[in-house]
Amino acid sequence: MDKKKYERPVILKQQSGLMNKFGSATSTQPMTDIEGVPVAELAAAYGSPLFVLSEKKMRDTQQQCQRIFRSRYPKVQFAWSYKTNYMNAVCSIFHSEGSWAEVVSEFEFDRARHLGVRGEHIIFNGPAKSAAALEKAVRAHSKIHIDHFDELYELIEITTSLGLKADVAIRVNVDVGIYPKWDRFGFNYENGEAREALKRIAASKTLRIVGLHMHIGTYIMSTEPFRVAVSKLVALANWLKQQLAIDLDYIDVGGGLPSHNTLKGQYLQADETLPALEQFADAITAPLFELESHGDAMPTLILESGRALVDGAGYLISTVLAVKRLSDGKRAYVIDAGINLLFTSLWYKHKMVPAQPTGVMREQANIYGPLCMNIDCIQEDASVPALKKGDRVVLMNVGAYTMTQWMQFITFRPAIVLITADGSPHVIRKAESLEYVMSLEEIPPSLRSLSA
Ligand SMILES: Cc1ncc(COP(=O)(O)O)c(C=O)c1O
Repeated sequence: MDKKKYERPVILKQQSGLMNKFGSATSTQPMTDIEGVPVAELAAAYGSPLFVLSEKKMRDTQQQCQRIFRSRYPKVQFAWSYKTNYMNAVCSIFHSEGSWAEVVSEFEFDRARHLGVRGEHIIFNGPAKSAAALEKAVRAHSKIHIDHFDELYELIEITTSLGLKADVAIRVNVDVGIYPKWDRFGFNYENGEAREALKRIAASKTLRIVGLHMHIGTYIMSTEPFRVAVSKLVALANWLKQQLAIDLDYIDVGGGLPSHNTLKGQYLQADETLPALEQFADAITAPLFELESHGDAMPTLILESGRALVDGAGYLISTVLAVKRLSDGKRAYVIDAGINLLFTSLWYKHKMVPAQPTGVMREQANIYGPLCMNIDCIQEDASVPALKKGDRVVLMNVGAYTMTQWMQFITFRPAIVLITADGSPHVIRKAESLEYVMSLEEIPPSLRSLSA
């Protein structure tokens, strides 16, 4: 038998299976499989760390969302927000559920076109569209959401020189009582800027106003901001009809619905505090019935939900590399997934569960990633059962803004596996290799002969 390693003794207050002060029990259930595929097998076959996505979860969530909104408003269209997760397989799943594409750059626009999305089913948002990208969007008959006056004038020039017309909307920013305001995007509602922009567009010969757009923020935790914002868009739509005789094809309320993740400042779990999706849908759809168009003439409601649809479908398998004690005796774990993969851990307490049975005793511990950087902390004071080197853990709700915001830093980006609807795992993005990472680099001739 190997000699056990010495560890400095500490006295700890243990809590076993006790309820927290709100009466919720702490669970010690391990997550041994994802959609029926054992975590141990996934890690053995594809490595650790490893992102795993569930097709079933994505489809179920999208279908549930569609049902909730369609039962409240007759015309609903989802547009998949590419920046949330633009892996081809993920976009293909949402497109096959009927979603259009919502893109904010030429790169994302090209990805959508590459996947075969029809030009008129692409919503082009964002504050920084290049002239080349605008030209592509005009030629493809995409819906261009204008962000500012410089873009408006540039688009008039582009369409005039091409001799083509473009379908446009404006992004409107509104005061919804959340501060600081998200007023850096779009035209302001309260100070009349949005009306000025609409008048300017209406006067142009090449632009056709087809919609109004807003995106009031992300992970909105209450329904009221949506109700306020949609009411203001509805007032603007009614003004357009009365003053400029323009009937809109759609009102696009953007994204912003929360996922099941818990924010760092929240004491209770998100699921215990956030309104239900139905309540958000009530707040978004009720003001639409104040529109002055009726029946078939009512505009389509477009939703660009991102994180609410994909976060829960993502898992990150990781391995414990080391178990340590900090200088004050606090438990610390080093795992092989860091902030380079989980940018979102800056504001989320991602739930971390062991992938194999553990004891019931829990201890407050800091979870560190593998980077040699002090900022690489996935979570402070996580309540975890005792883990040992080599144990696997699963970080939950990591499907949104991880695979698009991850960094190739110090180490490679890992593979992404999709468990398809039939329960079989498929690599949808390979793990990076040294050849791949270095393939873009050049060494100037004068440095080539240097050796260490
Ligand atoms: C214009 C726009 N639409 C939709 C989204 C998706 O937002 P969420 O993930 O909060 O639903 C974003 C995210 O930043 C966005 O900028």
